[in-house]
Amino acid sequence: MQIAVIGLGYVGLPLSVEFAKAGLKVVGIDLTESKVNDINSGVSYVLDVPSAHVKELVAKGQLSATSDFSVLLQSDAVCICVPTPLTKTMDPDISFIVSAVTEIQKYLHKGMLVVLESTTYPGTTDELVLPRLAETGLKVGEDFFLAFSPERVDPGNQKFNTRNTPKVIGGVTPLCTEKAVALYKHAVDTLVPVSSASAAEMVKLLENTFRAINIGLANELAIMCDHLSIDVWEVIEAAKTKPFGFMPFFPGPGLGGHCIPIDPLYLSWKLKSYNYTARFIELATNINSKMPEHVVSKINDALNDDRKSVKGSKILIMGVAYKRDVSDVRESPALDIIGLLHKRGAIIDYADPYVPSLHVLNQTLSNYDLAKGVGQFDCVVVITDHAAFDFKPILAQAKLIFDARNALKGQKAPATCRVVKL
Ligand SMILES: NC(=O)c1ccc[n+]([C@@H]2O[C@H](COP(=O)([O-])OP(=O)(O)OC[C@H]3O[C@@H](n4cnc5c(N)ncnc54)[C@H](O)[C@@H]3O)[C@@H](O)[C@H]2O)c1
Repeated sequence: MQIAVIGLGYVGLPLSVEFAKAGLKVVGIDLTESKVNDINSGVSYVLDVPSAHVKELVAKGQLSATSDFSVLLQSDAVCICVPTPLTKTMDPDISFIVSAVTEIQKYLHKGMLVVLESTTYPGTTDELVLPRLAETGLKVGEDFFLAFSPERVDPGNQKFNTRNTPKVIGGVTPLCTEKAVALYKHAVDTLVPVSSASAAEMVKLLENTFRAINIGLANELAIMCDHLSIDVWEVIEAAKTKPFGFMPFFPGPGLGGHCIPIDPLYLSWKLKSYNYTARFIELATNINSKMPEHVVSKINDALNDDRKSVKGSKILIMGVAYKRDVSDVRESPALDIIGLLHKRGAIIDYADPYVPSLHVLNQTLSNYDLAKGVGQFDCVVVITDHAAFDFKPILAQAKLIFDARNALKGQKAPATCRVVKL
């Protein structure tokens, strides 16, 4: 069996490797030449996928990469893992899906299974993918098979990976679901079939909307606690001891990554065509997207207490990836915070062990070497709590630390250092 995976990113590469490890022949298709070259040379650019695994699978002939879509002719199944970002006007940008499906259309053949994995609005598989594939004259559920199966990969998660994270699958017809389940059985331990592709699309949006809304609630709680001079972290830690009916979510400097800030907007966009406003999504998006401003306002107040202005202050941002222990800076709130502080005249450096250089403010900043010490900075701002950060020397040298993640929990600051929490 040969499987093609279109899009070899954070989702497509781990999936390809898992299929290949299960003994299937996998051809990854990507338009980015450097990724194709890296894979064929046995190099992984995704932190969770060790290069050694890629190298071994490539050497065995189980895994290869190309930018030539004609390999689809010999492929029994194809999984689409291309990006689904937002346009500048915050509408779904499904152009990557359309482009991938247009290529599949050219090579669709009898017996082929097509699975869309990219997160998207309910109806995409039935209303956008199916009509294009049906134009070939082949009949879905008989000549070819089509399903949606959302990707749940959590980059940086040490416990859950592609294999042990249950996977939801919804086919356009019952036989399509059966075929897709039979394929994913090779790579995933637990499969969860649902009755339709739209239901599967909605499952993914529920999961990420649930997170976005609960993080929005935690962020608003942080703002309310700030007004009331209550420690929000202490409140959540104590509430967390309730053994039922409560699930802790934590505030932070804002949402980041390719999923949580974006996916709920796919759902609210779809509902607009039904003249329905997704109120929870709009409210949470509003609160979450304002968190970088809240952080900057708190940094401004903290510097003010030291008789300093943001203008001219030297500020070190610790962690620019959107979450701990990953290198991905897409939609990272650190970028907004750096932009806002820079606009107010701050002099910015950043330190992130996973991000050697950062393109921001129309320039490329390089990773500050923490071994040089942090005593020269007026404020150290913790945006991402990477496990690799050793806060002991930071506490010993810094004058002021603004901690947006409660990363210094349990650590005692010396009299020379003031710690301000979100
Ligand atoms: N990153 C995550 O944690 C995560 C988790 C769950 C779901 N998702 C969803 O999975 C999808 C993919 O996300 P990702 O993070 O892997 O994206 P990514 O940007 O890391 O990778 C996408 C890859 O697709 C390639 N590509 C783009 N258009 C192409 C085309 N027409 N043909 C071939 N290759 C093409 C790009 O070069 C890139 O390598 C998105 O819909 C995303 O929302 C992502």
